[in-house]
Amino acid sequence: YLPELSGSSTDAKLKQLRRAASVCEGCDLHGPATQTVFGVGNPNAKLVLVGEQPGDQEDLLGSPFIGPAGQLLDEVLQSVGLDREELYITNAVKHFKFKPTGKRRLHVKPAAREVAACRPWLESELDVIRPSMIVALGATAAKVLLGPAFRLLVERGQVHRSDHAKWTMATYHPSAILRVPNEETRQTMREAFAKDLQFAAEHYR
Ligand code: URA
Repeated sequence: YLPELSGSSTDAKLKQLRRAASVCEGCDLHGPATQTVFGVGNPNAKLVLVGEQPGDQEDLLGSPFIGPAGQLLDEVLQSVGLDREELYITNAVKHFKFKPTGKRRLHVKPAAREVAACRPWLESELDVIRPSMIVALGATAAKVLLGPAFRLLVERGQVHRSDHAKWTMATYHPSAILRVPNEETRQTMREAFAKDLQFAAEHYR
């Protein structure tokens, strides 16, 4: 499905990737999902955020991080002075995987083969953009970028080198924060998440 990229601007190249990904059938997730949710944002971003996969609203509307997780992300980005327009935001997997339960569709973690099938899209996005820093949101993106042995709870907030950027860091996934039932724990995680994004905000240029 990967196209031969032509033209010189990163914007043009990302548009070619987006078009090709819109008809990707590289794994079975394209069937039940509404659409491919490709990355969005600044084609020349110095900082790229990578999530896991689109959620319910992202699937319906076609853009990453616009549901509840996106709202939390936006609040924290704003609190550390990061402008979403300056960044590029994408996911490790571009289709929503879910289990229908009544009228709600419940997020299901993507399988290793689905993450592997989608990996060329993420790698192509990063090859085109060449950011100085990548922040992985959650373990799925962290393992894609930093290797399968990466342990989020041990290595969260640490800066690594990766194939795609001078600095790569992993932090909590905003959905993981939202799911924590204990208010105090949730608040502690949110503060750690904000601290990691604050570090990114101070170093990504
Ligand atoms: N969670 C993600 O990982 N990505 C999205 O785009 C939305 C929710």
